[in-house]
Formats: sequence, C-alpha cells, structure tokens
Amino acid sequence: MTWNNATEYLSVGDLTSTQVASDLARAGSCIREGGLVVFPTETVYGLGGDATQADSARRIYAAKGRPSDNPLIIHIAEPADAEPYAHTCDTYYRLARAFMPGPLTVILPRKETIPTETTGGLETVAVRCPSHPVARALISAAGVPIAAPSANLSGKPSPTCAAHVKEDMDGRVDIILDGGDSEIGLESTIVSIDGEDRVTLLRPGAITYDALCMVVSEVQIADAVTSQLKEGERVLSPGMKYRHYAPDAPVILLDGEPDTVVTYLQKEQCQKRCAILCYEEEIPHLSQAADASLLFPVGSRDDLSAQAHTLFTLLRHADRAKPDVIYAHLPPQSGLGLALYNRMIRAAAHTIVRL
Ligand code: TXA
Ligand code: MG
Repeated sequence: MTWNNATEYLSVGDLTSTQVASDLARAGSCIREGGLVVFPTETVYGLGGDATQADSARRIYAAKGRPSDNPLIIHIAEPADAEPYAHTCDTYYRLARAFMPGPLTVILPRKETIPTETTGGLETVAVRCPSHPVARALISAAGVPIAAPSANLSGKPSPTCAAHVKEDMDGRVDIILDGGDSEIGLESTIVSIDGEDRVTLLRPGAITYDALCMVVSEVQIADAVTSQLKEGERVLSPGMKYRHYAPDAPVILLDGEPDTVVTYLQKEQCQKRCAILCYEEEIPHLSQAADASLLFPVGSRDDLSAQAHTLFTLLRHADRAKPDVIYAHLPPQSGLGLALYNRMIRAAAHTIVRL
C-alpha cells in the first residue's frame, strides 16, 4: 500500500471557538465516511475510524502496520451507548458508575453491529468512554462508535502529543487533531468480564488494581501483566503477545538499592554510550561522568504520575540519541507502578539486572 494522503492538522485546544466546533464537525463526517482521524484522549492519542465499518478497521490496521488479529477498542460517549454493540451486565455498569468517563476499557461479548474486523476476529468487544473533551466531542460529531488503537506505528511507544503522532502517521491518516499533551501518558486499564461475572485485569493503567477491588469483590490479574508468555501460551488479550513500546536500542531495567544502582550506572557511563531514564534525585550523581544530554529525568522517585506522564516521550527521545543501551529503573508493582512495570518490562523485552 502506498501512502499519499495529505494529512490535515487541526488545533483543537479551544473548544469554545466556532472554528474548532466546525473542524470537529468535519472530522466527525470524515469518520462516518470511512476516513481516519487521530484525536487526543486523557491516556494517549487514538487513531480513529468508524467501529461499525469493516473497511475502516482494515484502514486502521494498514495505517499502523498492525496485525489484523489484534482487536480495536471502541470509544463511546456514555456507558449506556454500549447497548447496541455489546452484551452488557450489572458488573459493567458497576464499573462504569465508578470509572467512566475515564481511563477504563471493559471487554464484553460483541453484538453483530460490530464487525469481526474491528474485534480482530473475536466474539468480544472492548468498550471505553474517554473523559477528554475533544474525544467526547468527536464521538458525538461522528454519531458512531469510534474504533481507535493508540496512534503509533505498531511497535513504537504510544504517542502522547501531536508531534509524536506526526512522526508516525503523517500521510497515513486524513486528519490529526492536536489537543496538546495527554494528561495520563499510559493507555487505559483493560478488564474483561466473563460469563460467571469474574473480572480479570488484562492491562494495568491509571485505574489501579486497588481501585477496581473497591468496586468489584474479586479481580484476577492475568499472568501476562507481569510475566513473560511461555511458548504457545494462550493469551487473553492478543496485544499481550506482540513486542511493544520498543525503542531501537536495547532497554535494560535495574532493580536494586538506590546507591547500588547509581554506582552501577556511573561505571557503565564510563564504558558505553548510556541513555538513562533517571530519577531527578540522581541527576547530580550521574551528570559528572557523562554527557548530560543522555540523562532523561522521568520525575522524582516517588512521583509515579509524573513517571507515567513522561515515560513514552522519554523512550522516544532516548532512542533518538542513538545510545548503545537505554537504562531505566524497574518500577514497583503496586498502585500506578503496576502500569509502569507492565510497559517497562515489554520495552525491555524482560531484561532485568538485579543488583
Ligand atoms: O487508552 C487507550 O486504551 C488507548 C486510547 C486511544 O483509547 N487505546 C489503546 O488501544 O491503547 P490499543 O489498540 O493500542 O490497545 C488495545 C489493547 C490491545 O492490546 C488489544 O489486544 C486489546 O486492547 N483488546 C482490544 N479488544 C480486545 C478484546 N475483545 N479482547 C481482548 N483484548 C482486546
Ligand atoms: Mg497500542
């Protein structure tokens, strides 16, 4: 397939402006007519098409270079808007009352209105109500549910600003809506609900495991959230089996006491061109031995929200510096840390050095 679309860039920062209202109406028509529109959400940018058209799903897979068995999330404005497309249940509405609109995706049995092209051939469909006002305005302008994966080329970090979308999607989509930086910076939490009402966490995000447990009594964590899949193992979510968020340089995660990690990094800096996703507290200790432009501060050690917000941007920046290796800390597995841990072990292809 050749890409020769002239992508249109529209700034949608001010939702009170009449120009923005008319741009969003046009972007909504574009989706209805089978086109592709990139839009901001509170998690990451999405690459949207009409979830009810098989051809739109095919175009999304082609634009991302994504295998067509990796299903798409459908974005709706209100929890009850899932009714025409999915078989809902009490547990869905309990989760919806607590967390929607917001960064939660729920997997439910599909209705015929959603083609299997959108669901990667599965009989289930992933449903999400984003809270970002531009995403919500676009969904209502389109008048159809919007199928949207993250707007990166398959295998690249998810984009958290329009500049990153441009790097990956220029010429491959019709319109890119620029709504500034994504607030959260990591993709939504994904849970599935099975026939017996059991809830399983498939992808951790800003809605944490503990928050889910406050609403439903038992939540299982899928093995693939924290561990490497074994050869031939069945996956609950197809996205888990693909290499993800991977910069070109190898990523190595370090696990150890703060002083030990700093000492290890100082030694490595003398021997290799090391890009380091470091804590702010470490900058004075790491800026003497090496080029400070290879330090990428992710935030302070205890500020997991800041780390979530900056992670994907810094992976892109670190990779651009063409280092021999990218070092980062192994995140904790509690709270928002579990989402960081899940993304980092994928970026690092499970390479962890225990010090
Ligand atoms: O925050 C987000 O969720 C962003 C924004 C744009 O909404 N979207 C996003 O989509 O991250 P994507 O396609 O990059 O990741 C969706 C994940 C994939 O790993 C996919 O395999 C899984 O959700 N998924 C989608 N539908 C599924 C289904 N029916 N069953 C199991 N997993 C599913
Ligand atoms: Mg993605």
